[in-house]
Amino acid sequence: MLGACAALENAAGAGPAASTAWAPGRCTLVGEHVDYAGGQVLCVAMHLGIAAAVRVSGSERFLVTSGDTVVTRTGAGPKGDMGDRVLAPVVALCAHGVSVPPVEVGVAATLPPGAGLASSAALMVAVTTAILRLLSLTLTARELAAVALSAERDVLGIPCGPLDQRAVVDAPAHGALLLDCATGAGAPVAWPWPDTILVACDTGTQHDVGGAEYRRRREDTESGLAALSVASCQELTEAGIEAGHLDPVVERRLRHVMGESRRAIEAAQAMRRADVAALGRLMSASHRSLRDLHEVSTPTLDAVVGAAEAVPGCLGARMVGAGFGGTVAALVTMGSAEACRSAMAEACGGGETFLLEPSPGVAVLSPDVVQG
Ligand code: GLA
Repeated sequence: MLGACAALENAAGAGPAASTAWAPGRCTLVGEHVDYAGGQVLCVAMHLGIAAAVRVSGSERFLVTSGDTVVTRTGAGPKGDMGDRVLAPVVALCAHGVSVPPVEVGVAATLPPGAGLASSAALMVAVTTAILRLLSLTLTARELAAVALSAERDVLGIPCGPLDQRAVVDAPAHGALLLDCATGAGAPVAWPWPDTILVACDTGTQHDVGGAEYRRRREDTESGLAALSVASCQELTEAGIEAGHLDPVVERRLRHVMGESRRAIEAAQAMRRADVAALGRLMSASHRSLRDLHEVSTPTLDAVVGAAEAVPGCLGARMVGAGFGGTVAALVTMGSAEACRSAMAEACGGGETFLLEPSPGVAVLSPDVVQG
């Protein structure tokens, strides 16, 4: 929070922020590339995130600052610079009926950008929450996630599903969220192991969510669901896919979303019965499906997953997020964490590694803003 406040004062002049907010990143445990197909996802929020500090502008201009960059402008609409992302929530809030005066916004992150850990969603939720707090307004958790999703999808044109925003908002303290993307229902699942943690390695290669490949996965998946006349991947069956005589690429995509959504439910069941080996197996199976059927992994991600899995005490590992780069997460016993970090970093030529603690989402952290 201090970084965001300091950035604001440096760029816009002395005087405290009128409000601040923080939002975490997310790490999917199992259930990748199924949110846009109405599947089930098991995910956690993280202890790394994004802080926003906000105050009403002294002039009629919006001001945005992050790191060494400062942008000023007369309106909040996209202009093609870094202010677009920070001010997208202002546009989305206006579309939701909230009138936002010109504001000055400072942003600071502990979450690496472009690493598949939902930094965009964390930014949208942090800025939206700080502005709501500034205006003494509240939203429900669902409304907050919807405004943040609309900021990304409608204002910035990024074709993402609902996973990231819901994880950032709704993740419980000390546990995971099982999110049903067909109905929007979310269920908390407690983290049952004091001696098992997640280790993450940011491979330093950019992931791809606004890019052509992510769009193509969505389109292939959606065209397959439409061809079989099913509303969500949870309705898919092996026999139904067989009988559809689909294009082989589309068939692979459907096999991924069908299996991955089922694995997410099994992963939640594994956590509920504290079966750590089963959760690890499901994470590794998720990676293989993303690699072979959805084809969103890379040789670097595969190498880091393989290196983690070879460490005694590692129970499973997988790529996280949209893919084509980004982060690998491994489930490990506490005693193996350091060995796993070294092996993962070495496999990608020195990627940044960190322990990943399941952390509460914004609905838990900001009860003055998020109601119900
Ligand atoms: C990105 C998108 C999400 C989801 C994941 C893959 O993070 O923003 O909606 O599709 O990729 O699970």
